[in-house]
Amino acid sequence: AQVTQAEFIKSSVRTEDCPSDGLPEFALVGRSNVGKSSLLNSLVRRKRLALISKKPGKTQCINHFRVNDSWYLVDLPGYGYAAAPQELRTDWAKFTKDYFLNRSTLVSVFLLIDASIPAKKIDLEYASWLGQNQIPMTLIFTKCDKRKKKKNGGKRPEENVSDFQELIRGFFETAPPWIMTSSVTNQGRDEILLHVAQLRNY
Ligand code: GTP
Ligand code: MG
Repeated sequence: AQVTQAEFIKSSVRTEDCPSDGLPEFALVGRSNVGKSSLLNSLVRRKRLALISKKPGKTQCINHFRVNDSWYLVDLPGYGYAAAPQELRTDWAKFTKDYFLNRSTLVSVFLLIDASIPAKKIDLEYASWLGQNQIPMTLIFTKCDKRKKKKNGGKRPEENVSDFQELIRGFFETAPPWIMTSSVTNQGRDEILLHVAQLRNY
């Protein structure tokens, strides 16, 4: 599985405004700054297809990127960005939830979790919500290149990953698939593309 072509198609704020060509899509979601846009760029081997910034809250719409003219990667706004005005935050939550519940071409939500830190309450809540609503989900652990640091709980990415899976076990009938990644080393890139290919062939 290789990406030979990737292009930005459009930004939408409502599910109804998303592309209507029926191609299958995979949505990247996760806490602000978890590395959604970086992962997208890594997957398509482009440095700046999706905008990356040190400042959280950069991505504020539903952004559709068409890959190989046959499927979409969708970059969604991050959640849990405390510095955003409350009004904006609830608006994001509303339109992303509507998108998850009503977007019929959505094959799987890629929930991104930072593997360099211990599980955050808001990530567990998000995973729980997806489980309750039976939205198909893949766990994508990001920043697996980062070494353990005392101030981040002193655990290796592998340990944070297994802790997280243990914590969400009760939310799902069958444990969601999971992939460890890094946008710095491109770890997990081929695995994600293979996963996408497998899901598209169902
Ligand atoms: P929002 O759009 O604000 O929600 O953020 P985002 O989830 O799109 O995060 P983004 O890709 O903009 O990355 C946020 C920060 O994390 C940037 O400083 C990235 O360079 C850094 N980062 C992202 N992925 C990785 C990774 O795999 N490893 C390391 N070490 N840093 C990463
Ligand atoms: Mg982003």
